[in-house]
Amino acid sequence: MKNIVIFASGAGSNAQAIIDFFRGKDEINVALIVSNQSQAGVLAIAEAEEIDSMLIDKKIIKDDSFLEILKSYETDLIVLAGYLWKIPDYLIQAYKNKIVNIHPSLLPKYGGKGMYGHHVHQAVIENKETESGISIHLVNEEYDKGKILLQKKVILDDGETPDSLASKIHKLEHEHFAETINNLITLNH
Ligand code: GRF
Repeated sequence: MKNIVIFASGAGSNAQAIIDFFRGKDEINVALIVSNQSQAGVLAIAEAEEIDSMLIDKKIIKDDSFLEILKSYETDLIVLAGYLWKIPDYLIQAYKNKIVNIHPSLLPKYGGKGMYGHHVHQAVIENKETESGISIHLVNEEYDKGKILLQKKVILDDGETPDSLASKIHKLEHEHFAETINNLITLNH
């Protein structure tokens, strides 16, 4: 059995897509959902799916007793699905090449601190890019700089808005993130 722990700060549509993908797979389990936002939709998803959840704050995530909690869930992979805080270096060391993130742009463009959600789509449109997309990558000590596992592109239409681009990007995310996680786990078994 391989255990995934999802970190998310927002609505959790990616978390839901991952839960749905692995529902039928006995060998891979979403063991815990961690959030830093008490009102995050992802916590309601955890409750509805009867998956353990944990609300963290800056103090908890910095304390290495948090590592013991992840170990108690026999965590094999940490999945960042819209998680807005930087992962502390001690956690990156403890889970080297076992933390994966999804970013809503074609990294290295439009990555780094402050580049998340609508800010990304706004910048892409303001810079008159003709394409954007998703990047699924391993997490290292630098924001959005780890090894890229998959990139998928979308073409911007005339008059594209941050909202219309966000929905195109979300569709790509929901199509590819869970499968990429599955490949990562099965290849690293
Ligand atoms: C996604 O767009 C992802 O690329 C970014 O945060 C967003 C999470 O959306 N990292 P959701 O909470 O999964 O709906």
